[in-house]
Amino acid sequence: MATRGVGLLTRLPLCSQRRSRGQRLPFRLLTCQGTVAADLRGGERPSGSVETGSEDKTPKKRFSELQQERREQAQRSVLIHCPDKISEKKFLKYLSQHGPINNHFFYESFGLYAVVEFCQKDSINSLQNGTVTPSLRTEAAIPFRSRFFNLKLRSPSNQTSEQSSVQPNNQSPPSSKKLLESLCYAESVDEQLNTLLRAWQLTEESTRLRYLTCSLVEDMAAAYFPGCAVRPFGSSVNTFGKLGCDLDMFMDLDHIGKLDSHKNAGKFLVEYQVKNVPSERIATQKILSVIGECLDHFGPGCVGVQKILNARCPLVRFSHQASGFQCDLTTNNRIALKSSELLYIYGALDSRVRALVFSVRCWARAHSVTSSIPGAWITNFALTLMVIFFLQRRSPPVLPTLDFLKTLAGAEDKCIIEGNNCTFVRDLNKIKPSENTETLELLLKEFFEYFGNFAFNKNSISIRQGREQNKPDSSPLHIQNPFETSLNISRNVSQGQLQKFVDLARESAWILEQEGVDHPSPSHNQPWGLAALLVSSLASGKSSSGKKRRRPASERVKSLLESIRGPSADANADGKRTLSTQTQ
Ligand code: GTP
Ligand code: MG
Repeated sequence: MATRGVGLLTRLPLCSQRRSRGQRLPFRLLTCQGTVAADLRGGERPSGSVETGSEDKTPKKRFSELQQERREQAQRSVLIHCPDKISEKKFLKYLSQHGPINNHFFYESFGLYAVVEFCQKDSINSLQNGTVTPSLRTEAAIPFRSRFFNLKLRSPSNQTSEQSSVQPNNQSPPSSKKLLESLCYAESVDEQLNTLLRAWQLTEESTRLRYLTCSLVEDMAAAYFPGCAVRPFGSSVNTFGKLGCDLDMFMDLDHIGKLDSHKNAGKFLVEYQVKNVPSERIATQKILSVIGECLDHFGPGCVGVQKILNARCPLVRFSHQASGFQCDLTTNNRIALKSSELLYIYGALDSRVRALVFSVRCWARAHSVTSSIPGAWITNFALTLMVIFFLQRRSPPVLPTLDFLKTLAGAEDKCIIEGNNCTFVRDLNKIKPSENTETLELLLKEFFEYFGNFAFNKNSISIRQGREQNKPDSSPLHIQNPFETSLNISRNVSQGQLQKFVDLARESAWILEQEGVDHPSPSHNQPWGLAALLVSSLASGKSSSGKKRRRPASERVKSLLESIRGPSADANADGKRTLSTQTQ
């Protein structure tokens, strides 16, 4: 779900600052050896693909390895609300008394915040031991010892003069106008898709903040369930997340009380005394209910806590104010974590995958095919599976089928969850790259062509087999759940929403076929290529009541093309076309 953008102010060079065409920036870190940040130092990977290494020949890391590294990094990190004006040097010096700092960055989200990663976990104990609970005059504080602090200046007036304020380096998603302008300045449609990806993918800082937020929630949950883990899943980790996307969290209780073989030895077996409830679902509801209460009453910065326990997948939804993330906390949701791993693998296999998915998602959002509110719309997850399926259908295929990934799996990859076989190869280096060399421009055009003519009335989409299946039921759109194969992940989609998607796909395929749309205009100020597809307001009319009203497709396309081609159409006083979309 979209959240307000968080302006990230990076003070020490992280990957986002290396995003400009592989330019290596100096790494001014107070580093220690053997940490994730130190490992990343040598690379020039763009943010977002940082995790995959898909653009270079270095061995690609497994999803589980990355999750573990990020988790440990987050456990050594703290979140600090800072005064608006602060000397970075003094700030670091002050905190360094608790131990060496490996990395830090500042960001803005209704105030200035810093994420500080120490080299050792012990430093956090030291910092906590020197931290006081605020004494309030009119209210009472709940003395919860978290890793989220407030930093105050002891005598602000003396210090203000020598403090240099941190300069904002805003990394919230680009405005629609800015994005369209940069698309117009690209040299090719392929470059446009990559530009959009770079502008919208999660930055290194956003990723760190996501893992840290999970880690802070884990601290609270661990008060009840020591040994539990709160892990991010969904678009925060599957490499398809865009800046501002929600933070899906999974509370993993599986390892609590599991037997190691050495514990199993001897004549006796000791079990915990536990309370029993009639079903797994009720256990999930009870656990989430308590954690929800805990976040609501004691969680610093956790606001708007809603317990949505009767949903198919019970969850606790809340806003984490300091990070700006809308969070969905679930438990007993292991399959979703496995889906994230699968998408991570698909995203890492070929650099065209993420570029295409981001553009299709952006296109869908611009035309209200997807929405941040739950409803009869197609979801981002469904769209991603559609792109993967389409790429499996190319000749030669860009992506392998899930069944093929299963054939490459070794014994260590075997995974059965609730009776569902979720086995696939997890080592990316075992999967051969595709021989398909099609351009992104062609793939985008063909994607719209393919789904503009897909027999949705009788066929189902399955990335497991990579070919159309007969639809097992009458739902308008049927996309087989990759692991629970009897389920349809798009059963919520109405016939009307599907038809809208099909109409827009046809229009978009047709627009991309038109002469002059596939290359930049000489003055670079006309929407062309991907930009032409995103310009929705030019293509839709407004009724006399001021409400948006869609004109017949042919009319809208005609007017869009005229507006693209005609030098004077929709031009403002500067002679520039007014670009307005709903891409946020
Ligand atoms: P965003 O729209 O960017 O949040 O994408 P997302 O992939 O994170 O989607 P969402 O937050 O809706 O769901 C989080 C994860 O839950 C997805 O990535 C999937 O792994 C899983 N998921 C979502 N919807 C379904 C569904 O209908 N069926 C199944 N099996 N899994 C789902
Ligand atoms: Mg999500």
